[in-house]
Amino acid sequence: SILEMEVEQIKKGNYDHYMQKEIHEQPDSLTTTMRGRLIRGGGDKVKGVLLGGLKDHLKTIRRSRRILFIGCGTSYHAGLATRALVEELSGVPVTMELASDLLDRQGPIYREDTAFFVSQSGETADTLQALEYAKACGALCVGVTNTVGSAIARGTHCGVHINAGCEIGVASTKAYTSQIAAMTMMALALGEDTLSSRNRREAIIDDLFNLPNMVEEVLKLDSDMKVLAQELMDEQSLLVFGRGYNYATALEGALKVKEVALMHSEGILAGEMKHGPLALVDETLPIIVIATRDATCSKQQSVIQQLQARKGRLIVICSKGDANVMCPNGGCRVIEVPQLQDCLQPIINIVPFQLLAYHLTVLRGFNVDQPRNLAKSVTTS
Ligand code: G6P
Repeated sequence: SILEMEVEQIKKGNYDHYMQKEIHEQPDSLTTTMRGRLIRGGGDKVKGVLLGGLKDHLKTIRRSRRILFIGCGTSYHAGLATRALVEELSGVPVTMELASDLLDRQGPIYREDTAFFVSQSGETADTLQALEYAKACGALCVGVTNTVGSAIARGTHCGVHINAGCEIGVASTKAYTSQIAAMTMMALALGEDTLSSRNRREAIIDDLFNLPNMVEEVLKLDSDMKVLAQELMDEQSLLVFGRGYNYATALEGALKVKEVALMHSEGILAGEMKHGPLALVDETLPIIVIATRDATCSKQQSVIQQLQARKGRLIVICSKGDANVMCPNGGCRVIEVPQLQDCLQPIINIVPFQLLAYHLTVLRGFNVDQPRNLAKSVTTS
């Protein structure tokens, strides 16, 4: 009815679509995720994090033999983005599990394991079934959800709410960045008892305070990403190369483009380039390379050189001021983004992809908030 349509428009505020609103909301949703959880330090207070729903279980988690990150879609990618930091700060190996695959193979889970269930809705059928399975195996089960009172929030032993606020667009955007922020805080809490990592932890906390401003900054790429979308709108296919912390960004960036813009897109671990993907490279296929400053960026630099040697059509995402270093011969389009601690960079780096996917979808004339054949919450398996 007309009334319903008007209510919808009011909920979207000044935006045309929920996805667009949720992308631009991220400085605020990230602030809410961190509210009351970061301790600035000074005086007799130690700089640190406070996660109420987890604090009584930190010891058990630190002592576990293995941590599992279990989820589907974007929530799986959020786990992947934080895997390295959790391993670094806790010393516990982390295995990644797509919920459906864990169920398909009935992979072994033990009492000494801690299983994290990452789910925006808290209702995804496969993730919920994986939870029942892990509980039956005797593992400690931790929820990372955006929905208070959801099945996964209720069914886990303890957990963290990501507090991103209600997400309506089927393609997850602000929930993804808040999942990464929440799991980063989790990693910090797990590392709290280790003196040798103190400087590292404090540097990450300083950058978390800065994060909403940096996301505000990267959102200014909106018009640039619209121009890029105009150039790419008639393409059949798009590749995204990432590695390290930004392997997750490559997978998630490609997923955004695929699910809303209905364009074939593939996220590729750059370290695997020579094992197949290189055969696809020619002058026409667009390739986005994520090459922001971190321990892997010199390797990304040589990936760029090798792609250029094969006349690849490159779009490079790099840190502010690095355009000439990453692309010395010109010939590729460069997108510069603000630089944070390596482990927080996935939150910054996904934003240009969200904007690109959004503009591609509008230009190609598809439904932004409810993509063909997809549902916000997949409650059947
Ligand atoms: C669906 C949604 C995705 C989401 C996935 C997992 O596929 O369209 O956006 O990432 O389910 O959902 P969850 O609620 O468990 O995070």
